[in-house]
Amino acid sequence: MTPSALAQFRSSDEAWWQTAISRNEPNLIEIRGYPVQELIGRLSFTDLIALLAIGRLLSDGERRILDAALVAGADHGPRAPSIAAARMAVTCGVTFNSAVATGINLLGDYHGGAVEGFMELLSDLAGPSMSDEERRSAARQLVASFRERREPVPGFGHQLHDRDPRRARMIALLEEAVDDGTIRGVYLGTALTIEAALADAVGRELPLNVDGLTGIVYLELGFPAEVAQGLFSLSRGAGIVAHALEERLAGARIKGPCPPGDELVRYVGPPPRSLTSSSSSADASYSREFWSTFGEDGICVYWGLSREGLEQLDALTRRRLVRFTNDVAYGDEEERDTLLAEVAGLADNDRAAALRRLVSDDA
Ligand SMILES: CC(C)(COP(=O)(O)OP(=O)(O)OC[C@H]1O[C@@H](n2cnc3c(N)ncnc32)[C@H](O)[C@@H]1OP(=O)(O)O)[C@@H](O)C(=O)NCCC(=O)NCCS
Repeated sequence: MTPSALAQFRSSDEAWWQTAISRNEPNLIEIRGYPVQELIGRLSFTDLIALLAIGRLLSDGERRILDAALVAGADHGPRAPSIAAARMAVTCGVTFNSAVATGINLLGDYHGGAVEGFMELLSDLAGPSMSDEERRSAARQLVASFRERREPVPGFGHQLHDRDPRRARMIALLEEAVDDGTIRGVYLGTALTIEAALADAVGRELPLNVDGLTGIVYLELGFPAEVAQGLFSLSRGAGIVAHALEERLAGARIKGPCPPGDELVRYVGPPPRSLTSSSSSADASYSREFWSTFGEDGICVYWGLSREGLEQLDALTRRRLVRFTNDVAYGDEEERDTLLAEVAGLADNDRAAALRRLVSDDA
């Protein structure tokens, strides 16, 4: 068990905060022993990341591939949950840094955070003394064990791309770095061996994704797996900041995961019911809580329309009806009661026709 910080402090002669990274005293800032004023203007941000995290300066070749990894992961548009979450957060009025943190916090095992698990398994498999055949056999076993557990091998596959444009470019850069002696290439070779074993096992290609590609770079440069999600956060953080800014400048408030009334949200729980009455009339079903989850089934209950009645309406009219109903539900109470009473008195067919008319008036 890890000792408590207090126990560790009491049983050693270490300071409460002991760091080998930086020294900060009045009028003095040093990073890994270098005065900060020497670093400013000489080091790129990529150099600084390496100096801070692993305590050494990069060669030109190393900087090139670390830079490439940071660029590769920076953005994937609002399709990426991390980006969409930050954009949503910014429209909710939270502070800008909180919106950025919201995006970063979505990086998990299946999205952006697979890099750590990938690096761990790659480290286990990349023993320098292994022959190629031993490595191939170990890769086959690794893939088989993931498939037995019905778990995806981290670092491979993508929801959107089957030919991710980042893969070929990153592999080419890594191969160049092997050729010019910048890196040894053991991790690159092992990753490609796993990729081939996975394709054989699944029967189609599941190429290295950005987590895998960047994980190879981090390992080749000597970063430990524990820091990988942090590096990815720095990279994706740049994209998240830009998207959050764009959304903020667009100025809209409260952007949810999908527009209200959209058929993407479907309530599948029990129909509206009451603790005090068994009535399922449209009136009894009205409640604000209900409106937060309603969909087409909710529309049926609200207007007292059967499913068949609703299906007489085309998709556009149905969508308009959801929007219209929302307006009615939140609108003037007297108008709402009049409309409900008018429609409630009609037979199903007439009811659908009346609703169609109401909605086209609305449109
Ligand atoms: C990214 C990911 C979630 C995409 O999943 P997806 O959209 O379901 O992927 P696909 O539709 O291309 O593939 C579905 C099939 O391939 C399999 N598959 C996909 N990625 C796989 C992987 N990395 N290892 C093993 N099998 C995988 C799935 O199990 C599924 O098989 P099934 O149809 O027999 O159930 C998935 O590839 C994954 O979990 N990868 C590992 C995690 C990772 O690296 N995430 C970072 C993404 S940038």
